[in-house]
Amino acid sequence: MTPPPVATSPPSSPSAVVDADALRSPFVFALCQPGAEAVVRDELAQHGLSPSFSATGFVTAKAREPLSLATLPRLVFARRLCLSLADVDDGELLAARVRARVHHEQAASGEPRGAPAFVGVHRQRPGLSRDPCGDAQLVVPERAPSRAWLKFEEAARVFAVPLVEGDTVVEIGCAPGGMTRALLDRGAHVVGIDRNAMDPRILAEPRFRHVQTSARHVEPSLVRTVAPSPVRLLVVDVNLPPRSALSALNAVAGAVRGTLRGALFTLKLGDYRLVAELPQWRSRIERMLRMPTQATQLPSNRQELTVFATVDG
Ligand SMILES: C[S@@+](CC[C@H](N)C(=O)[O-])C[C@H]1O[C@@H](n2cnc3c(N)ncnc32)[C@H](O)[C@@H]1O
Repeated sequence: MTPPPVATSPPSSPSAVVDADALRSPFVFALCQPGAEAVVRDELAQHGLSPSFSATGFVTAKAREPLSLATLPRLVFARRLCLSLADVDDGELLAARVRARVHHEQAASGEPRGAPAFVGVHRQRPGLSRDPCGDAQLVVPERAPSRAWLKFEEAARVFAVPLVEGDTVVEIGCAPGGMTRALLDRGAHVVGIDRNAMDPRILAEPRFRHVQTSARHVEPSLVRTVAPSPVRLLVVDVNLPPRSALSALNAVAGAVRGTLRGALFTLKLGDYRLVAELPQWRSRIERMLRMPTQATQLPSNRQELTVFATVDG
């Protein structure tokens, strides 16, 4: 089915200002990663909403009682959950009138773009990207050895990732170095743990140190010896099922926990049925790091999700 286009920028005319707190509707719609619709339907149902029409990257639902912006639930797999206000025949025309940018999710091959649009409203908050439909349309620079560069850059637009120039980061699952590139470009020192080879351009960076082994084999004392200063951020992007990934990094996490300000995990689902285990993974991370977590699916996450932990959470 064709995804409806969604106008996502706010109207710039002051005459269009409405009292957002007074808005009420039992109808909502969620924008999500193409392929994550069933997971979003489940999340909506868990919050007592009845899912109805859905299309690629788009799920509608109805609540038993009208909702307001304050009572809209938070979903992990929805890039946006909006109170649905109206649907219009010509979304492009509406967007042109209010000078909004229309975001078209990549449709399955051959699907035409639909003209009708749903009009909704949501409230901006921490943990939600300001970019239309959560997609910053970032382009991976040539100097980044992998697309994983996007995972860090997108996460930094959603979460207050606590990283300042000169900080030391431990990155587990760093090869070939896409995220490392993003970290180095922000002035970090990076200790990368991965048995795979790094891109030579990353290896040549003076602020990068490669510990070429599995995180399972890293002695906590080694991390403290190699790190040039107390470790402030832990980044994890290993191609293991989440339960194995969390076991593999246990010792390293224990070694750096005392000085950490935050951590960013990419958890590989492989199969969306694993999502049922998300609460267990989050509480395991929270116990391991003694920090609360937030979770979301970034545009660059395929069958993955991002969990962010921070002392300020
Ligand atoms: C998706 S790739 C990482 C991409 C990388 N973050 C980047 O930005 O280019 C997954 C990596 O996890 C590594 N990996 C798997 N198990 C690991 C473990 N136990 N310890 C460290 N790295 C591991 C693999 O060797 C592989 O290089």
